[in-house]
Amino acid sequence: MCGIIAYTGHRPAVPVIIQGLKSLEYRGYDSAGLCFCHLERLHLFRAAGKLHFLEQKLEGPQVLHATSGIGHTRWATHGLPNETNAHPHLDVHDNLALVHNGIIENYQQLKAMLIGTGCTFRSQTDTEVMVCLISHALNQHSSIRQALAWSLSQVQGSYAFALISRNHEGKVWAARKASPLILGAGTGENFVASDIPAFLPFTRNVVFLEDGELVEMDAGQWTVYDLSNLEPVSKQIQRIDWDVQSAQKGGYKHFMLKEIFEQPQVLTDCLAGRLDFKKYRVNLSELEGLPVPSRLHIMACGTSYHAGLWGRYVLESLARIPVNVEIASEFRYKELVDEPGALYLSISQSGETADTLAGQRMVRERGLPVLGLCNVVGSSVARESDRVLYTQAGPEISVASTKAMCSQLVMLYILALYWAQSRNVITPRDMMASLGTLESLAFTLDTQLPGMQKRAQEICPHYSKAQSFFFLGRGIYYPLALEGALKLKEISYIHAQGYPAGELKHGPIALIEPEVPTFALALDNFLLDKIGSNLMEVRARKGKIIALTNPGVQLEIDEKWEIPQLGDPLNSFLVLPALQLFAYEMAVYLGKDVDQPRNLAKSVTVE
Ligand code: M6R
Repeated sequence: MCGIIAYTGHRPAVPVIIQGLKSLEYRGYDSAGLCFCHLERLHLFRAAGKLHFLEQKLEGPQVLHATSGIGHTRWATHGLPNETNAHPHLDVHDNLALVHNGIIENYQQLKAMLIGTGCTFRSQTDTEVMVCLISHALNQHSSIRQALAWSLSQVQGSYAFALISRNHEGKVWAARKASPLILGAGTGENFVASDIPAFLPFTRNVVFLEDGELVEMDAGQWTVYDLSNLEPVSKQIQRIDWDVQSAQKGGYKHFMLKEIFEQPQVLTDCLAGRLDFKKYRVNLSELEGLPVPSRLHIMACGTSYHAGLWGRYVLESLARIPVNVEIASEFRYKELVDEPGALYLSISQSGETADTLAGQRMVRERGLPVLGLCNVVGSSVARESDRVLYTQAGPEISVASTKAMCSQLVMLYILALYWAQSRNVITPRDMMASLGTLESLAFTLDTQLPGMQKRAQEICPHYSKAQSFFFLGRGIYYPLALEGALKLKEISYIHAQGYPAGELKHGPIALIEPEVPTFALALDNFLLDKIGSNLMEVRARKGKIIALTNPGVQLEIDEKWEIPQLGDPLNSFLVLPALQLFAYEMAVYLGKDVDQPRNLAKSVTVE
């Protein structure tokens, strides 16, 4: 997830672009850059790190004169977060400059083809391949529009990009596929950006671009084309009436809510390039050459630890690999038992959690291999792992982690399928079924989220006076019960405890009374009857029960919350946001500071 902006108009472009990038910095801040054309030359400025490092580099008279240009703030996916890999990227002739948000999945094949034609590359990014491809296409096509249409037909993956040319000062081209891009239509000036706040101080007139559309614009006009035939497309201008502050949250009241609603996109991004429907396999090229472990030890904290517990179920049931899961702050002080063939998996959204990092350092000091599962590219966990799998959740701003867990779960599921296929312990039929459901998961979640939020809003007020909550689950839903309890605790300050439902009768049931409600994960699977009996025990003690379940399930409870049946383990991808929304709506109802709860920090870099 990166932020892009392009401007063409009557104002000095550089301050407009910098202002736009400031509002896009939430999308990533590994590096920043901008490029403009002046007197038939492209002027490029780039810097590693946050935007202010770029600002320090902006000097020279041409910086004041340019009235069009492109800018980028990066969240690294391909290549280290350094200046060389910072956008914009130029083609070999320094004729074209391009900024990009997304992932070009077939960039290695395209790069090999371009190298064969004599093209050379300066960065490790997939984006540079794209600009060089367009430059290459200009040898066979008479216009940039046509060269773009051909190039994009060669590209697999997701993109939102903006392009300028040394020979066409004042013109900008932009297109999107599965990454956001919005046109801002001003008076004597036009914009494209990844998000509306980037141009909201200048225009409230927006055009939402769709996949497969290309926009060509200058200061006075803009035209949208259908990329498949280059015919103009008629588009409607919409008026935005949000203020800048709320627009940074995309119109959502809190970052947490925005991030919950970003989960369908997270699933799409995580799965991009991973599912091979021709061979019915999953791709994890990052693990090529790494032997399948005989045992996996997972270490993590908080929400990432819960993801690890969930991962154990899928790794053991699909890949048939034994798994231990450890809270990193405990693991780091353990006596390690040497075990040939074991692999250590470090899970962390931030990649900077002190305990997780200490655990993996201890492992590596013993010469044992570590695989990192991490969201932030170039973070300590990533750099200090032997191999890394990046989750593609984008920057998570809310202290309460939501979309990062979704990305961890989907990557753990892919990992389990990958090792299952490597070990030949999954039938082609089961693999086909898993790939099929994974492919439709993002769409299913997207359609369910608004209804889920409404249901959470209906239920929460009835339970807002509770002093304490139990969250119960069995099997793969037990780790999610732990996560539901953690979310409620950290943002609503209601005490909550996640428990395996079968364990309740061994002590905690003593706490059940009408003021201590139970939130049960009672999905329709082979354990439903078991959890049904556990809930009867709660009911017999006059405990109130909310149950998240599937259609057709009969339970004696107070509140039924139905989600569609996706089967195990994929129901988890609906259970998780339901729990997040329940905690969120409870915190909002109680008037708590959702995005920055008391006593907490987003990244816990101390022991
Ligand atoms: O960045 P990490 O995934 O390593 O962070 C681990 C925990 O600190 C984190 O998940 C924390 O529990 C969150 N506040 C949960 O919402």
